[in-house]
Amino acid sequence: MGLKNRDPFEIFNSWLEKASRREINNPNAMTLATVGNDGRPSARMVLLKDFCPDGFTFYTNLESPKSLQMAENPNAALLFHWKTLNRQIRIEGPVEQVSDVEADAYFATRPRASQLGAWASSQSQPLEGWAELEKRVAMYTAKFHLGPVPRPAFWSGFRLRAERFEFWKEGNFRLHKRFIFTPSESDAQKWHVQQVFP
Ligand SMILES: Cc1cc2nc3c(=O)[nH]c(=O)nc-3n(C[C@H](O)[C@H](O)[C@H](O)COP(=O)(O)O)c2cc1C
Repeated sequence: MGLKNRDPFEIFNSWLEKASRREINNPNAMTLATVGNDGRPSARMVLLKDFCPDGFTFYTNLESPKSLQMAENPNAALLFHWKTLNRQIRIEGPVEQVSDVEADAYFATRPRASQLGAWASSQSQPLEGWAELEKRVAMYTAKFHLGPVPRPAFWSGFRLRAERFEFWKEGNFRLHKRFIFTPSESDAQKWHVQQVFP
């Protein structure tokens, strides 16, 4: 069946599965693009942790530049590019923070060292030297000792609700296949599909 007649989440799932078999690491890595009040776009990689029809979820520090930008302007974009497949997927829409219950549940599944790292890192703030970070890791390691490491209030997830997908497949001589999915105007449960020139 061609892309045109498929559900975008099902296409996404099948491409991600294919990438998982081929990519040497992090098939779930995606670029997250955000724009704050200053109107200047900013992009960086994050890892997709979950997806469902409600959206695409990733986790980060809530005091980081990306999170501050999303607080100012919730509209964001995700980009997957899998070199081994010669394919890309663009996903755009508004983000919202996941619930504390959901963030707690995911944080609890992370390795202890990553949990301590989340506490220790004031993400994107100036670091005087590596020793400063090591000191903070040691401090939180001692603080939580042998007990569970709770999720820091400044660390959580965001879910991007897809309002637009674009699936791009490399073709010969740059005649690539591109299909854009947007919610159907007549039925919000359905998607309108438009093929576009490469
Ligand atoms: C493959 C890859 C995956 C990453 N995953 C995450 C992630 O899931 N969450 C995160 O906060 N940063 C992640 N990072 C680091 C971010 O790219 C970035 O350096 C950091 O979040 C700070 O971004 P900001 O200053 O724009 O907020 C990842 C980097 C790479 C290269």
